[in-house]
Amino acid sequence: MMLIFGLMLLQTAACLDQFCWFDQSDPCYAALGHKLNLPMMLGATNYILKIIKRINETKDDPFCRFQHGIMEETECDLYNNRPEVTIIRGMLIINRVIRADSGNYTLNIYSSQIRQTFEGDLQVIVEAPIGSVEVSVICSSSGVMRVFCSSEGDQLLYSWTLNGDPLKDGNSSIDLDEETDGDISCSVKNHVSHAQKTIRLKPCPVCSVSLVFVVVRSLELMVLFGLLGAFHIYMRHTSGKKKEGQKVRMRRFREGHEHTAEDS
Ligand SMILES: *[C@@H]1O[C@H](CO)[C@@H](O)[C@H](O)[C@H]1NC(C)=O
Ligand SMILES: *[C@@H]1O[C@H](CO)[C@@H](O)[C@H](O)[C@H]1NC(C)=O
Ligand SMILES: *[C@@H]1O[C@H](CO)[C@@H](O)[C@H](O)[C@H]1NC(C)=O
Repeated sequence: MMLIFGLMLLQTAACLDQFCWFDQSDPCYAALGHKLNLPMMLGATNYILKIIKRINETKDDPFCRFQHGIMEETECDLYNNRPEVTIIRGMLIINRVIRADSGNYTLNIYSSQIRQTFEGDLQVIVEAPIGSVEVSVICSSSGVMRVFCSSEGDQLLYSWTLNGDPLKDGNSSIDLDEETDGDISCSVKNHVSHAQKTIRLKPCPVCSVSLVFVVVRSLELMVLFGLLGAFHIYMRHTSGKKKEGQKVRMRRFREGHEHTAEDS
């Protein structure tokens, strides 16, 4: 079990060690908290690299300029206070990606201060990878079995299979017939990761609703009878007391009269 878990972790980590290139036309989807590799130059060293984050398209936009493709000879306000951002052999490595890394970047490469030899753009979109997937079932009174799927992560897409056959509903919950039986599987994906969870369905207990109803009704009746009984005992008790009180008063009254009769 531990071994399988370890292997799964390894696999996920390997999946999320990503590469994006500054001349790719598709956006670069980067996994939040994971490693992003941005090759800028492979091999050559006698170049100046300038990476700009385009915010307002002005000279004030933050940038980093690297000499010979190393971090040491750098003029940089883009990755200020980000020791986790490094350059190794012409590759910009962000280990760990933060949300603020989303945005549009331009890379310029100069073979000298004057001559530009390359310009490339890259749009980076940071997404939180998918956490653990949870599947739960609720049997409703209207004869519907509703299956819910939930997970953490950004821009989640859901898909379902029942006993291996795809179901067409692409939602975080689906409704099935209450007698459905078998394995239901929820797959969740976004641009940076995917995960799935399978559970075994049991047909909804058909009598469950009426059983609950009967139990609740019986409890109600028990409480009602209990109250009636208590009230009955209470009444008997208090009326008994009243009678006793009357007797005592009568006796006192009579004794009083007898006393006054004796006195006179
Ligand atoms: C971009 O423009 C906004 C408002 O126009 C300004 O507040 C912000 O400081 C600017 N950012 C940069 C990096 O130039
Ligand atoms: C980045 O560029 C794309 C397409 O050029 C644009 O749709 C998007 O709004 C830009 N994003 C930011 C944060 O400027
Ligand atoms: C997903 O569920 C919501 C609310 O339950 C519904 O409004 C929406 O149409 C559903 N989407 C699909 C693709 O079935």
